Amino acid sequence: MKRLDFTLAEASDADAIFDLVYLHPDPFLRAATLDDVKGWIANGACWIICDVDRSKVVGACNIKVPETTSHQSPEPAEFGGIFIDPAYRDRGVADALGVLALASYYWDNDPDSLYPIPVISHVHVDNDKPLKLLARLGFEFQEVIDVPADFPGFEHMPRDEKGQLRGKEFRFPPNLRVRLFREMAKLFSTEQQGDNVIHVVPALGMDATELERLAANLDTQLGR
Ligand SMILES: CC(C)(COP(=O)(O)OP(=O)(O)OC[C@H]1O[C@@H](n2cnc3c(N)ncnc32)[C@H](O)[C@@H]1OP(=O)(O)O)[C@@H](O)C(=O)NCCC(=O)NCCS
Repeated sequence: MKRLDFTLAEASDADAIFDLVYLHPDPFLRAATLDDVKGWIANGACWIICDVDRSKVVGACNIKVPETTSHQSPEPAEFGGIFIDPAYRDRGVADALGVLALASYYWDNDPDSLYPIPVISHVHVDNDKPLKLLARLGFEFQEVIDVPADFPGFEHMPRDEKGQLRGKEFRFPPNLRVRLFREMAKLFSTEQQGDNVIHVVPALGMDATELERLAANLDTQLGR
């Protein structure tokens, strides 16, 4: 049985995250540099899974929140870069990582508002791997989009016979935060998942009581 910690990444995790996810880029994952990873961590936007016994990072994801100005309405935040060490896949650990990242994002961004800045996610049209995971987390398919030819970080991705790079866009419905906050609260007291002993290390002051209050408050606002 393995013991896995789920937590917000710290500066000292940057090299391990880079080596796991970006050193040999997955054909369907946007490329990133070590400095990119350091920047996400500095912004509190990167979550990881650590195998405590072997003290290594075995999974990571991030939610990038675009800079906003008072003159324009905010762009959606982007859930992405989810990568699990192949030896740790198919155990449901990606689900727990996704719940932690999304709940942390919404905890930190307008948790009581019915209209928070939305979260979207993009998946290469040929990449089936994350589809069930995104569906389990609650993401809904919106549309297929074309990625512009010179978009940085996508150079290594496969293109179709016309040279186009296409991605499926998914959106997280804000009302699903009710379920998300309750799943997050449950995760705090979950000690085992599949064959793994798991531990969610609290970050950002998240706690189960306040998550339940937020869920109940949203329920009330939604007239449920
Ligand atoms: C995308 C990725 C993170 C998904 O991770 P994963 O652990 O393999 O997650 P999956 O959804 O594939 O597997 C979950 C499986 O675990 C099993 N499982 C066991 N316990 C589980 C639990 N408690 N909850 C959910 N699934 C559980 C299920 O059998 C499930 O299989 P199913 O989806 O066929 O029903 C992983 O495939 C990966 O790193 N891919 C490469 C990078 C990539 O493409 N990233 C996406 C870029 S957009």
